[in-house]
Amino acid sequence: MLILGIESSCDETAASVVEINEKTGKSKTLSNIISSQIAIHQKYGGVIPEVAAREHVFNVLPVVHEALSSAGINYKKINAIAVTKGPGLVTSLITGMETARTLAYVWDKPLIGVNHIAGHIYSDFLETDQKIVFPLIVLTVSGGHTNLVLMKSHNHFKIIGETRDDAAGEAYDKGAKMLDLGYPGGPIVSKYAKEFAESGQKNNITLPRPMIGNGLDFSFSGLKTALLYQIQKDKDWKNRVAEYCFAYQEAIIDILSRKAIIAAKKYQAKTIMLSGGVSANAELRTYLAKKVSKELPNTPLIIPKLSYTTDNAAMIALAGYYAFRDGAKTSWQKLKVNVNFGL
Ligand code: KG4
Ligand code: ZN
Repeated sequence: MLILGIESSCDETAASVVEINEKTGKSKTLSNIISSQIAIHQKYGGVIPEVAAREHVFNVLPVVHEALSSAGINYKKINAIAVTKGPGLVTSLITGMETARTLAYVWDKPLIGVNHIAGHIYSDFLETDQKIVFPLIVLTVSGGHTNLVLMKSHNHFKIIGETRDDAAGEAYDKGAKMLDLGYPGGPIVSKYAKEFAESGQKNNITLPRPMIGNGLDFSFSGLKTALLYQIQKDKDWKNRVAEYCFAYQEAIIDILSRKAIIAAKKYQAKTIMLSGGVSANAELRTYLAKKVSKELPNTPLIIPKLSYTTDNAAMIALAGYYAFRDGAKTSWQKLKVNVNFGL
């Protein structure tokens, strides 16, 4: 089966063709085209929704065209179109949705509205050789969301933990802003943290782990405020940016990993998965892997390929496939933005 995925929930316009072998469940990404607006938004220190919306309008058709042509697939062969319907910036989402709706109508294809978080979760199933056994726990961490999700089977998502305030990626982005490091914060903070770790110096900065002993929900705003207060008190903070990045990242990763382990134990997960933009973080990948192999040595950890961590349309295509397989279909007349979790 061939699915065309379209994603435009934030500042990436993306389209992808994914081929799924229905017998084995194996997927192959035939194209994964992403037009990123990071360079445009960098000068403002964050995504400007109005600017993002205009860029999506310029980019969406060329990106869809490129996805089909580089996959070598004629649109007639596509079995269904999957598109992100939310959550995200509404003004960004509607461009991908209108494009998908129009193509579904004109090409007479089934249309599937996909939840963006479900998309991130399915990035772990893309082109993996590892066996994924249910029930599983996914830690999905991004700029817009931070969730622990229990999946007992395909398409069944139960949120068992979520952030009460900022998302983990947002914490990276806001922390980087305070430290005057630019946007997006994740890759920059992680670069400085690595430099500090490699310097062999001792970290003298202590930051809190909000809500650590308190269930499966997260809170990052207190951590962000703690960073702000420490910088305000420290006349020398500009010379200690790498150390601040190290301590800040250490706190984020520690909180995320500890809660993922608690959730996996509580629900007796047979697989643990990590996904979302923050899962691109090398330190999070290795730290969580170490923790899992120590505390749950028989539970495999699935980590997505780097190209599937930040927003992309291959993950939307695969999530769309599983929904379609289980009977989900959205008529082009009825496709609506939906900010709730679930398909
Ligand atoms: O999934 P994504 O592309 O978009 C949303 O759905 O939000 O995630 C973007 C987020 C940003 O907050 C960015 O700072 C973070 O992912 N991110 C990272 C890294 N790369 C991207 N965070 C930590 N380390 C990274 N290497
Ligand atoms: Zn995302």
